Amino acid sequence: MKDKLTHPIFKIVSDCSEEMGIHAFVVGGWVRDVILNRPCKDIDFVCVGSGIELAERVAKKLGDDYHVTVYKNFGTANIKYGEFDIEFVGARKESYSRGSRNPIVEDGTLEDDQNRRDFSINAMAISLSKDNYGELMDPFRGIKDLEEKNLRTPLDPDITYSDDPLRMMRVIRFASQLNFNIEENSFDAILKNKERIKIVSKERIADELNKVILSSKPSVGFKLLFDSGLLHIIFPQLVHLHGVDYVDGKGHKDNFYHTLEVLDNISRNTNDLWLRWAALLHDIAKPQTKRFEQGHGWTFHGHEDKGSRMVPKIFAELKLPQNEKMKYVQKLVLLHLRPIVLAKNEVTDSAVRRLLFEAGNDIDDLMMLCDADITSKNPEKVKRYLRNFEIVRTKLKEVEETDKIRNWQPPITGEVVMKTFGIPPSKKVGIIKDAVREAILDGIISNEYEKAFQFMLEKGKELGFIAVNNIFSGKE
Ligand code: CTP
Repeated sequence: MKDKLTHPIFKIVSDCSEEMGIHAFVVGGWVRDVILNRPCKDIDFVCVGSGIELAERVAKKLGDDYHVTVYKNFGTANIKYGEFDIEFVGARKESYSRGSRNPIVEDGTLEDDQNRRDFSINAMAISLSKDNYGELMDPFRGIKDLEEKNLRTPLDPDITYSDDPLRMMRVIRFASQLNFNIEENSFDAILKNKERIKIVSKERIADELNKVILSSKPSVGFKLLFDSGLLHIIFPQLVHLHGVDYVDGKGHKDNFYHTLEVLDNISRNTNDLWLRWAALLHDIAKPQTKRFEQGHGWTFHGHEDKGSRMVPKIFAELKLPQNEKMKYVQKLVLLHLRPIVLAKNEVTDSAVRRLLFEAGNDIDDLMMLCDADITSKNPEKVKRYLRNFEIVRTKLKEVEETDKIRNWQPPITGEVVMKTFGIPPSKKVGIIKDAVREAILDGIISNEYEKAFQFMLEKGKELGFIAVNNIFSGKE
């Protein structure tokens, strides 16, 4: 493996460990990824001795710009080295108690350290000692598993997963990221231990879930999460999408598999985590809004609105951010049917203007979501939908060019209304302001300040107000 150790850091760590008279190894994810030719910015070193002392010596050799961050509780030390995040730890032996995924740790040998790791492909180490520099230490046939695309635990999987239940999420995440198979015994052990996922923090679960969502074909991970029963515990709303109801022999599509198809579709076009989340949640309220209407068949009226209102709770439960990212997902869920409705009906300028106003800068993402939402197996239908979306896109472009609605702020603010009529804040101020905005969006008046101001005066008059200030053009 000598040829893989091209980065100067390996020689430095090797020299420092030699000076200290200890053995050091590069271990874990970096070794796995270098063999797979995947980029990896985290390098983990393990030594039979003090990882913290080794880190301090390495930092000194690197120069004044490098500092060691010590995590005493974990016995680890970290150095930021350019784009790399390098971590040092002393080889350790671990034993677990049932109530926690934090082990009792003692000093150990390299073998002890490899034994405690999650999968054979993550348990390989490369020696940095002078006498066998570059030698691969692979006690669990990790190389073979990499070649055969196998995920296998070094020890009895029942113990590995029960000790640290986060590994059940990790193995599924690796299966999804790397397109590997989970060994049968391992999968059985997940089925047996799935309830133990409850002792893992929500943040860590979300972290793994996001990695599944960011993998090239996320449905692989979600199907495994579903089949293992983990999804039922960590994300029940998604499981509710599963299944088909029949009335009078008429069924609807299985919204769980449809959602996964949409997620896979969008993942071919974007690596944006939140756009992928929007795809995952676009139909989330279908179970709650499902009705069978005689003569009509299955309907899901209002699922976009209800779904968008479900987003904050889902994000809160999964400890995902409650910020503008969440609002973005909410917005896309809310609007995901609008281009479809537009495409079905005659595309009017006012409907397009309204959509542009509501979607703002996220209009292109929304259109991408709509494209991904086409999962029909009927090629004629797919062609028709795509053609209609093309018409909507052209119309969006035309209207944007003339009306510049995308980042538009309505010209008449509440402030202007209050000053013009000399009135205090009230519900009527909002009514006048909204009427002006609606008139512009509906094309009743053009998007110009003068026209909007005149319209406001008329609307105010209807409500019994008389202009006392002329702040036309914003000047008093
Ligand atoms: N590890 C483990 N059990 C865990 C987490 C990590 O045994 N629950 C071990 C594995 O040997 C892993 C190494 O610690 O390779 C480093 O873990 P981490 O950096 O979290 O993951 P990586 O395997 O490097 O993968 P990624 O960077 O994609 O998260």
